[in-house]
Amino acid sequence: MESETFRAHAHAFVDWMADYLAHVERRPVRAQVRPGDIARLLAAEPPAHGEPISDIFSAFERDILPGVTHWQHPRFFAYFPANASPPSVLAEMLTAVLGVNCMAWETSPAGTELETRVLAWLRQMVGLPESFEGVIQDSASSATLVALLAACERVTGGAAGTRGLAANRALTVYASAETHSSIDKGMMVAGLGLENLRKIPTDSKFALRPEVLAESVRRDRDAGLLPACVVATLGTTAVGGIDPLADIAEIARRERLYLHVDAAWAGSALVCEEFRDMLAGVGEVDSFVFNPHKWLLTNFDCSAHFVRDMAEVERALTVSPAYLRTAAGDRVVDYRNRSVPLGRRFRALKLWFVIRHYGVVGLQAHIRRHVGLARDLEARIRNTPGFVLAAPRSLSLVTFRYRPDGVADAEAIDQMNRQLLARVNEGGLAYLSPCEVRGRFALRLAIGAPETQEQHVIEVWDHITRLAAQCNPAAPSAGPAGT
Ligand SMILES: Cc1ncc(COP(=O)(O)O)c(C=O)c1O
Repeated sequence: MESETFRAHAHAFVDWMADYLAHVERRPVRAQVRPGDIARLLAAEPPAHGEPISDIFSAFERDILPGVTHWQHPRFFAYFPANASPPSVLAEMLTAVLGVNCMAWETSPAGTELETRVLAWLRQMVGLPESFEGVIQDSASSATLVALLAACERVTGGAAGTRGLAANRALTVYASAETHSSIDKGMMVAGLGLENLRKIPTDSKFALRPEVLAESVRRDRDAGLLPACVVATLGTTAVGGIDPLADIAEIARRERLYLHVDAAWAGSALVCEEFRDMLAGVGEVDSFVFNPHKWLLTNFDCSAHFVRDMAEVERALTVSPAYLRTAAGDRVVDYRNRSVPLGRRFRALKLWFVIRHYGVVGLQAHIRRHVGLARDLEARIRNTPGFVLAAPRSLSLVTFRYRPDGVADAEAIDQMNRQLLARVNEGGLAYLSPCEVRGRFALRLAIGAPETQEQHVIEVWDHITRLAAQCNPAAPSAGPAGT
């Protein structure tokens, strides 16, 4: 492509991007398509000859965009929203055009040194110990996998990487019953086996019960197994439960367990000092991950992974074929030795843009605004007859159930809530996701999209309360079943 053609298209794309963000609110949040609708529009064979960008772009608008769910929509409340802020998107454009692979210092000196510096900034911003070193992973799942591999190395004295896990007694890992499925997947991928993950029951606040953890470790040791790692969660996915880090750290120290902290979502809130109570005991953890791409105005993907003893991680992950050796040798950090993939995107650039553009104060305001909106919503739910909180609000995450008077059957209530969620999401006005709280179906509303304002939360709550009556067969305004 000629430089001038590239320039013209790039300008047009940026205009489109600015309009998209300015008007995304006019679109339905969740794509209004059925499975297969988009696939039917796509040519079965690749084109033999190249096409102009303008034609491809028209097809993007016509065929692809209707199948996109709009994560930047201010009424996106599902999962944990993603934060594609303008400064981070601008930085991603530079990342794309540089096309840098940050696998080693030599392949990207600025990428490497910027990564080290922005992680040091982030570490200070969220109140982690000064001794922690960092690495940017693509996802919290990858960080947890790395933590599991480091734990295996530690507990087997390095044998896991060379002789494999089969050469050892079975290694066991511990996490709460509310833990994210990435821990399960990590067990599978690391070859530890799902059967060796102990899901520890939680207390009334959905936090891991340390006394049960201690007992479970003791039982496994008595049975001749090798307890290796405990994963504590700060901000569980379903309801935002916060595990008691100090108590878990004490058990981990006593039992020589690798302690990894999964703060994928809630970690961003730590930029505000008032939310740092959950960090008590963090001085003793081995690693800690959170996702700026979830709630710190940094677009997907970007996971900040901090480690107390990075040499241990590097022992678990370093391979050195001749084609990867560089002249700088040990004098520099080669980030490829801190993550599973060899190739690494230049993710530090967007973090640098984001932190510099908003400043710590701006990022704190972003978090506080969302927590404030969630607090207001919590009050609304408490004051709306027929609705109950399914779990205590956690930061900007609210879970609730529709429980109208006169309906006692738990299964019937679950069914009404399922129907309510389906109606909200199918309509396109807002997007929420489901969760299970103590075995019962609940709706989960996570506030975190950059442009969500008070009016969006009020609109969605009014909408939910209107639709709820239609899901209750006993209510006078109930609509036909299943609609
Ligand atoms: C607590 C928790 N841990 C881990 C993850 C997985 O994050 P990622 O998609 O970055 O792997 C999530 C995703 O929502 C999460 O909520």
